[in-house]
Amino acid sequence: MAPLTPIQVSQYAANSYLLVSGLIPEEVAERAESALWQLLQARPDDRATWPQKTAHQAYDSPELLECYTEGMLGAAAQLAGEPLESVGAPNRAYAINVFPTPGEWKWPHPHIDHAIKEHGHKTFPRAFRIAAMTFLSDVPPHGGGTVVWPESHALLEKLALSDPSRFESMWALNQELSQVALGDPIETTLRRGDVLFYSYLCAHAGSQNVSDHPRLALNAKW
Ligand SMILES: [Fe+2]
Repeated sequence: MAPLTPIQVSQYAANSYLLVSGLIPEEVAERAESALWQLLQARPDDRATWPQKTAHQAYDSPELLECYTEGMLGAAAQLAGEPLESVGAPNRAYAINVFPTPGEWKWPHPHIDHAIKEHGHKTFPRAFRIAAMTFLSDVPPHGGGTVVWPESHALLEKLALSDPSRFESMWALNQELSQVALGDPIETTLRRGDVLFYSYLCAHAGSQNVSDHPRLALNAKW
């Protein structure tokens, strides 16, 4: 059965992203968070053990991969407009953890993914079907939540279609992002087990974590 409602699917199409609260069952998310702390060789209650800056790392951990439940993968397929069984579990869990840093929180600059020049990703057909951030810690305001620009997908698609040869690559489109009137961004706040899905043309950004707790999350793309 499709995990999401037609309204959620419409919201994703309109906004370029969808936050699904509690999509990962609490016991699964809790096990994954504990496993990630062990992999980091750090303890949540001992700040001295925390890494100093944002860390990207892929892991084989079964506890992390368990987050890619049937419901989660089905939701990804549903939003991507594909048959439910077409989105498979990733082979590795790719963690992007944002550790607290001092300083004043600022709105970050937007980007689109798959926009590294050397990687050569094309804008059409879509560079990937869908992306998901699965959160393994609670994230308060200014705690490193993903920032999204609602409706940015439609704006960027329109721009790309206005000159398909100029914007043939995701890199070229991303270069132009600062010239697009994207509107006001939204800073997401999250609970462990929440999943933020976003489309391949959704302008988004990581943000600084000035809270007193690390932000733990997994990123996946299909
Ligand atoms: Fe990104």
